[in-house]
Amino acid sequence: MAVVVITGSQWGDEGKGKLAHYLGAGFDLTVRFQGGSNAGHTVKTGGETFKFNLLPSAILHRDHQCLMADGMVVNPARLIGEIRCLQDKGLWGDNLLIGSRAHLVMPYHILQDELHEKSLGDHSIGTTKQGIGPCYADKFARTGIQVGDLLNPKTLRQRLEDVVPHKNALLRNVYGYDGELSVDALYGQLMEQAEVIAPLVVSSVKTVRSLLDSGANVLCEGAQGALLDIDYGTYPFVTSSHTVTAGACLGTGIAPCEITRTIGVSKAYTTRVGNGAFPSEQAGLVCEHMRERGLEYGTTTGRPRRCGWLDLVLLKYALRLNGCTELALTKIDVLDGLETVKAVVAYQKNGERIETSEVSDAELAGYSPVYAEFPGWPGPSRAARSEAEFAPELTAFVDFVEQQVGVPVTILSVGPDHDETVERSHRS
Ligand code: IMP
Repeated sequence: MAVVVITGSQWGDEGKGKLAHYLGAGFDLTVRFQGGSNAGHTVKTGGETFKFNLLPSAILHRDHQCLMADGMVVNPARLIGEIRCLQDKGLWGDNLLIGSRAHLVMPYHILQDELHEKSLGDHSIGTTKQGIGPCYADKFARTGIQVGDLLNPKTLRQRLEDVVPHKNALLRNVYGYDGELSVDALYGQLMEQAEVIAPLVVSSVKTVRSLLDSGANVLCEGAQGALLDIDYGTYPFVTSSHTVTAGACLGTGIAPCEITRTIGVSKAYTTRVGNGAFPSEQAGLVCEHMRERGLEYGTTTGRPRRCGWLDLVLLKYALRLNGCTELALTKIDVLDGLETVKAVVAYQKNGERIETSEVSDAELAGYSPVYAEFPGWPGPSRAARSEAEFAPELTAFVDFVEQQVGVPVTILSVGPDHDETVERSHRS
């Protein structure tokens, strides 16, 4: 039995989807444990590119079960869209299960997210406007609607009758929204969606438990990254779920002591979408190089991502928080062709050197990064299939990262395709 958790070690978009698909074939079950359609996981395989917002990235392994577990928030229309897309391509393997305690993202959550962001003006979070925050807020206020409610029309109708008048009052009186949500229309829409979703609904806990008890291997695929965690990220510029390894336990019912391996994923540089502190952010040519070569545009929103150097202080923080036993370093090829490559090794404030940070947004915003500099390498790294084919400068950079963060760098991704991956023998 193995429980392997893949977590993002930055502000999301680290390449977790590619890694989950790459490793996924070796597992009996792949589980997504938090977040919703704010995530955008890209998988490139067999010459085709797939972008999933909700489906676990291993869904393309058709002989392999995937579970959208209880910690997720699920927009039913988006989910059905993703299922239909795979069905149309003849790639649907009937291999999806959905936890009954996951929450439904309702149309009023999306409206609330959009209107609230607009009302904040310059102080907005920069959310993906997928209704994630309002849906999780309702979950904790105990006014949410769970996926399992789709199996019980009477309960579903009652939940809507209890909640919708409050939502209408909020939307009208706080945000000046001039529409009116109707219980009948929402109920009708959900009952139609239930025809597709209800047959997939299971108990997350029972499903995972019975597999683990039979000795199965489970892969937990995180969304977003540690620096966007609701408690341990750069609050308030975070998402509304637990993106760290502990979130895999909360979202699935797997006990912490059952996790056997945790792989942190980080790009060889840093990106961020949305607002908030970003000490190593670059403008000008370096940012353009990273954005254009790395196609750094949001998968969900299309927004250009902010780009900067790898921040080893933040990476160390994320790897410890997540209990990572190893690190996968992605998009290394994007740095090909730069004359100099840099990485943050400390910060400075008022002449004082700071080597650890708890990533409060306000604190980070006041820090100036201290960089280590490395000679660049010409590339193309994308052609490499073993470490021996790397430029010596690239190997030196990876060795430095490994030595700084204190966990082995075991997987290097040199391109978006499945086979553009180098497994690294551990040398230290
Ligand atoms: P929300 O999750 O849509 O509420 O957005 C909150 C913050 O998290 C914003 O800064 C988003 O840009 C960021 N965010 C949410 N999901 C992702 C993701 O999958 N990748 C990168 N950033 C994300």
